[in-house]
Amino acid sequence: HEEFTKVKNIATIELGRYEIETWYFSPFPPEYNDCLKLFFCEFCLNFMKRKEQLQRHMRKCDLKHPPGDEIYRSGTLSMFEVDGKKNKVYGQNLCYLAKLFLDHKTLYYDVDLFLFYVLCECDDRGCHMVGYFSKEKHSEESYNLACILTLPPYQRKGYGKFLIAFSYELSKKEGKVGTPERPLSDLGMLSYRGYWTRVLLDILKKHKSNISIKELSDMTAIKADDILSTLQSLDLIQYRKGQHAICADPKVLDRHLKAAGRGGLEVDVSKLIWTPYK
Ligand code: COA
Ligand code: NA
Repeated sequence: HEEFTKVKNIATIELGRYEIETWYFSPFPPEYNDCLKLFFCEFCLNFMKRKEQLQRHMRKCDLKHPPGDEIYRSGTLSMFEVDGKKNKVYGQNLCYLAKLFLDHKTLYYDVDLFLFYVLCECDDRGCHMVGYFSKEKHSEESYNLACILTLPPYQRKGYGKFLIAFSYELSKKEGKVGTPERPLSDLGMLSYRGYWTRVLLDILKKHKSNISIKELSDMTAIKADDILSTLQSLDLIQYRKGQHAICADPKVLDRHLKAAGRGGLEVDVSKLIWTPYK
C-alpha cells in the first residue's frame, strides 16, 4: 500500500564520524526494509546494514573524496563535480541519502541527467561531505539547482548559502540566469531569501536607485522574477505612472540587511576552475 511504504523507515544513519537522525522516508531497496539504522561509507556513499560490514568495506574502499573532478579548493573547503552518468551508483546513493532530509522531492533515478556538486571539508583523513546540490545538465526552465542539502551536523554554519552562491557562480560562467527548481522547502526558501536579500541589497547600497531589475539580474545571474519577488517582499518596489522604482534608502536597506542574517561562507571565484558542461 502506497501510504504504508511512505512511513519513515530508516531512523538513523552513520556517516563518517557522525550518527545522524533522519527526517523523512527514503525509498531504499526492499532488502533494507527491516533496517532502522544504515551505515554509509562517507566517501563512496555505499550503505550497509551492519557496522562490521562497513568496517570491512572501509579497509578496501580506496576513495578518499567524492568521485569526479575537484573544481574548487579554498583552504580546507573543496567542491567536487560528479557526473551522474559516469558515477551512477554514487549518484543514486547520494539521492537515497539526501531524500532522508527532503520532504517533497521526488527522487531522480535518472541520475544520468544530473551533475552533483559535493562540498567537502578536507583534512589528512580525506574529504568529508558537508552537503551538495544537484543540477540538470540541460534545463529548459533555466533551473540552476535541483536539490540542495547541508547534512544536519553542518547546518546553520553558512554552508547552505555557500552552495547557493556557488550555483550562481556557475550560472555566471555559463552566461545565463538561473533559479532553483520549485517547490522549495521552508528551510530552502529561508536560505534563498537570505541569499537574494544580501546580494541584491549590497548592490543597491552601492548603486543607489539608478539600477534596473535587468541590470541586477545581469550582475548576479538571479532570475528577474526572483529579484522582483524579493524586493516586493521587502516592500522596496514602488509603482509610479506604470513604472516601478526601487527604493534605495540606505537606512531601510541596512535594516533589511541586518534582518537577513549572516552572509554565509564566501565563494572565492578565483579558486573556481570550471568550464560549463556541453
Ligand atoms: N531555523 C530558522 N532559520 C533557518 C534554519 C532553521 N533551522 N536553517 C536555516 N535557516 C535560515 C537562516 O536564515 C539561515 O541564515 P542565518 O543562519 O544567517 O540566520 C539561512 O536559512 C541559511 O543558513 P545556512 O547556514 O547558510 O544554511 P544551511 O547550511 O543550514 O542549509 C538548507 C540550508 C536548506 C540547505 C538546509 O536546511 C537543508 O539541507 N535542509 C534540508 C533539505 C532541504 O530542505 N533543501 C531545500 C529544498 S531542495
Ligand atoms: Na524541495
